[in-house]
Amino acid sequence: MFAVVLVGGFGTRLRPLTNAVPKPLLPLGQRTILEWMMVHLARGGVTDAVLALGFKPEPFLAAFPDRTCAGVRLHFAIEDAPLDTAGAIGFAARSVGLHERTEPFVVANGDIVTDLRIADLVAAHRRHRTDGALATIHLTPVVDPSQYGVVETQPDGRVTGFVEKPAPGTTASRHVNAGTYVLEASSLDVMPGDAPLSIERVTFPHLVQQQALFALATDDYWLDAGRPDSYLRANLDLINGRRNDRDDAVHSSAVLDHECEVRDSVVGAGARIGKGARVIGSVIGPRAVIGDSAVVEGSVALGDVAASQVVRDALIAPA
Ligand code: GDD
Ligand code: MG
Repeated sequence: MFAVVLVGGFGTRLRPLTNAVPKPLLPLGQRTILEWMMVHLARGGVTDAVLALGFKPEPFLAAFPDRTCAGVRLHFAIEDAPLDTAGAIGFAARSVGLHERTEPFVVANGDIVTDLRIADLVAAHRRHRTDGALATIHLTPVVDPSQYGVVETQPDGRVTGFVEKPAPGTTASRHVNAGTYVLEASSLDVMPGDAPLSIERVTFPHLVQQQALFALATDDYWLDAGRPDSYLRANLDLINGRRNDRDDAVHSSAVLDHECEVRDSVVGAGARIGKGARVIGSVIGPRAVIGDSAVVEGSVALGDVAASQVVRDALIAPA
């Protein structure tokens, strides 16, 4: 099965981290967000993933010189100018010939971290196919839906309303688009991929009108790692047992002074933590150096922190 993974956004909300590194290539535990995505897709039966690239494609090409990740074959579709979500899907899917096939394919927003079993979403789509489903989307419950695509469904899973980022208080539903879809190849008819088009603002509302959009709601672990607090949380949840997956908190090649304190934190490969330094609830990126007596709390340090410096709730880009 093929997947299209949307990785062409600007990662605006994670600046300055994303000035140097595109969002999907940021560390998540001891891997990257994108590597975990590939692990997750492979488990669901995905063999081939098309990376829908726009902003900063070069780091992706450099990160996967053999064009494979977690056993998934990678294909690269590079947009000349941002095509937005549906434009990017149409363009990337056509670049590998999915419009000429008959089987459905998976689509994932590149910043989603979830324990959803993709195979369950594929199975739900196959069930809804007989009712005319052109797409089946994963839904998750949230407290404040205003930052997401809010979805109204019938008990049988048919979607009756999709509103992207509604004004607070204007919708009753607490279920939102969780950013993983199964699409019929024929849905590409409404995603030509030759101009910017939003799947959330145009394509999904259009499919609702056609009664061709279905959904599967689950309460699996889920978050969108595209915001500072959720990006940090996604990392910490990989080491604290809240996930089905677990990763090492401290990489075996990191060097921790025996008089430092590191608690509830991810420390990447080759990082160094100095004497008397305190690292609490934070992410220390690969090769970052935390100076003697520095304090790093609730922060992401992909770059160095000077001796005795105190940083709290901060994002520190690599130099
Ligand atoms: N190739 C390409 N080209 N990718 C793009 C483009 C583009 O022009 N624009 C955005 N993307 C990618 C981003 O890189 C990201 O992986 C994905 O599309 C979604 O964009 P975000 O910017 O992360 O959107 P969001 O988080 O505000 O909202 C989306 O995700 C929510 C769930 O986390 C929407 O799909 C919402 O409906 C959804 O609830
Ligand atoms: Mg997002």
